[in-house]
Amino acid sequence: MDYKIRRMTFDDIAIIIELERGLFREPWSELMFMEEINTNGSYVLCETGNNSIVGYVCGWRVMDEFHITNLGVAKDYQKQGLGSELVQYIIDHMIRQGLKKFYLEVRQSNVPALLLYVKFGFNITGIKKEYYKNPQEDAIQMMWQHEKKQG
Ligand SMILES: CC(C)(COP(=O)(O)OP(=O)(O)OC[C@H]1O[C@@H](n2cnc3c(N)ncnc32)[C@H](O)[C@@H]1OP(=O)(O)O)[C@@H](O)C(=O)NCCC(=O)NCCS
Repeated sequence: MDYKIRRMTFDDIAIIIELERGLFREPWSELMFMEEINTNGSYVLCETGNNSIVGYVCGWRVMDEFHITNLGVAKDYQKQGLGSELVQYIIDHMIRQGLKKFYLEVRQSNVPALLLYVKFGFNITGIKKEYYKNPQEDAIQMMWQHEKKQG
């Protein structure tokens, strides 16, 4: 299967909300995705054949930092490297824009996401106590810094 990544648009929100509700216990609202699109850090991953959206990533640029705020891959498409493709895409894209520091937060019980970010080299920088609800849970704060290659 071939996939492509493109900018998220307002027309995508209905299908993304459907995916989001299947993936998260505290899903984002339509308004939250609208705000993300306005920040220009949101992308969708589609099957090239039929253009159906199977994943998405969102983030905000804050000064010279980038905060990954959401990441999801449709259940039937997980464990095929697509989440990694989205994270790699957004990191590469932001590095090309001169950003070096990448931040995110993740539920402490979300082992798949934690392992994905560790694989990318993200380090744990802190814990936000009881940050999430339904169920109440700590957030693990993570950061990765792009180091310019020598030579
Ligand atoms: C987290 C998520 C985006 C991963 O997407 P994915 O396409 O399955 O991820 P990949 O196939 O690229 O996996 C990359 C690495 O992540 C880890 N990983 C992914 N799914 C995993 C699982 N179910 N169990 C353990 N590790 C897992 C592994 O280290 C994996 O590397 P490997 O394949 O070499 O073992 C997906 O599980 C998801 O949408 N989860 C629900 C939403 C969510 O939690 N988002 C993150 C919020 S911070």
